Amino acid sequence: MQIQSGQVAVITGGASGIGYGLAEALAARGVRVVISDIRADGLAEAATALRETGAEVTAVVADVSDESSVRALAEATLAAYGRVDLVCNNAGVVCPAAPMWEQDARTWQRMIGIKMLGVIHGVKAFAPLLIAQGAGHILNTASSGGLAPLPSRTPYTGTMHAVVGLTETLDLELKQQSPNLGATVLCPGLVDTPLGRNSAALGAITPPPADAPAPSMRTLAAARGGILSPREVAEAALTAIEVDRVHTAPGAGVADRAQARVDALLSDLAAD
Ligand SMILES: NC(=O)c1ccc[n+]([C@@H]2O[C@H](COP(=O)([O-])OP(=O)(O)OC[C@H]3O[C@@H](n4cnc5c(N)ncnc54)[C@H](O)[C@@H]3O)[C@@H](O)[C@H]2O)c1
Repeated sequence: MQIQSGQVAVITGGASGIGYGLAEALAARGVRVVISDIRADGLAEAATALRETGAEVTAVVADVSDESSVRALAEATLAAYGRVDLVCNNAGVVCPAAPMWEQDARTWQRMIGIKMLGVIHGVKAFAPLLIAQGAGHILNTASSGGLAPLPSRTPYTGTMHAVVGLTETLDLELKQQSPNLGATVLCPGLVDTPLGRNSAALGAITPPPADAPAPSMRTLAAARGGILSPREVAEAALTAIEVDRVHTAPGAGVADRAQARVDALLSDLAAD
């Protein structure tokens, strides 16, 4: 789908990080944006900041894990603009670090509720609107953790693999309706966002002590130039949408990790 001035985009998790970067990048192209988030205070600040750049913005508080809340988001979008061209199912949190057998049921329920059902609710609420218009695109944010194993984070990586898989099928289903419809899954490597802080504020992880050293992976990635800005990730996603690619995985080493997984998979299958 070509991204054009005057179109309407909805972005969940739009108050911060990658979602905010998507809103900035879309608004810079003249797209009217509906940003949505569960954190009302962060959402109001984000809407103000975007409006200061000249963007046309509507802010809607919604919890993606709640189907009726996402349905209300779709209704608010139609009430504001009468149409929607791009739906970014992006909201997310991280889970605590632990081996799979130590991850508790509440963590699994939270990750499935936000990352998987959040995407599913977005598709159910918005896909019929895109199909009725005969054109539009759905962008689902997963992670490089959805393309390869990620030890200590099975609730995160498991739900991200699900988002990759369901987006691949969703794209085919949408194209069966119209060649002007499609879906893309965004699988970035490490991105410079307050995901940990926001996840702690939402009760998904325990906040680190104030005097804790900076996380070593982030420090290492930053030192190697391997951490992306949210805006860089957003631009990669918009490019992928415009050329109708199903996957985009910006970030150093992400393609190599995906290649290693695919090679291991095919090697195992060849042994059957
Ligand atoms: N930061 C990274 O390194 C990275 C890498 C790969 C993928 N991701 C994924 O990108 C997505 C965005 O994360 P981010 O890094 O921009 O973090 P972020 O914390 O900056 O943004 C996520 C936003 O989602 C919102 N949110 C959380 N639960 C919600 C819910 N139930 N309903 C509505 N909104 C909710 C948060 O309030 C927050 O504003 C997530 O799905 C994350 O897993 C992040």
